[in-house]
Amino acid sequence: MNSNINVAIDGPAGAGKSTVAKLLAAKLSFVYIDTGAMYRALTWKAKEDNVDYHDEVSLTKLLEKMDLELKYEQGGVKIILGGKDITEAVRSPEVTNNVSYVARHARIRDYMVMKQQELAAKGKTVMDGRDIGTAVLPEAAVKFFLTASVQERAERRYLEQTEKGIESDIELLKEEISKRDRLDTERKTAPLKKADDALEIDTTNMSIDEVVERLLTITQEQMEAY
Ligand code: DC
Repeated sequence: MNSNINVAIDGPAGAGKSTVAKLLAAKLSFVYIDTGAMYRALTWKAKEDNVDYHDEVSLTKLLEKMDLELKYEQGGVKIILGGKDITEAVRSPEVTNNVSYVARHARIRDYMVMKQQELAAKGKTVMDGRDIGTAVLPEAAVKFFLTASVQERAERRYLEQTEKGIESDIELLKEEISKRDRLDTERKTAPLKKADDALEIDTTNMSIDEVVERLLTITQEQMEAY
């Protein structure tokens, strides 16, 4: 078996990618890489430093001097920026509602893709995002594209928020998810798109465990053949 194996998981916001990717990585003893967190960290930093989300040049400068560390711990990933733990902060509505503007600049994406390719160079990673199968790891051994209806994704987000004690509104969540889908699929550089050789899985009526089992079985089969 070739050890230089990576698993790419793409799909729209709220399709369950990160939850599933984390569990799959643990079962395979692979490293989980959350590429969305990298775009979120930059968005958070831009807000902190008063950099306009539409100013590509200033954002690129900010990114190049950013000291970002993704720390893998049991049960999750800690996002550390310049020594400060911003794991919770990058999930704030301010970041969530603006990250797509930051992520659409070509120079930002080029830099992020280069960093992500470095992280995956030794193999044994499960990487989730929007452009992993198409742009970051086009040679990944296994590629998945996870989807779910907007209604289902909004309901999942609603439950997540409720568990955290945050009040939210399903209709508003549906609007935000649809808007993010639109921005992510319509941007010029590396839009959200299923790779031709990715396996699409609609998770609308599946539990997390079912999705993980399905992905694990397929990954193991493909690894045998690789
Ligand atoms: O997966 P997430 O919700 O944490 O991603 C946050 C945003 O970052 C999402 O709106 C699109 C962008 N993103 C991207 O453009 N490319 C990636 N590989 C990962 C995320």
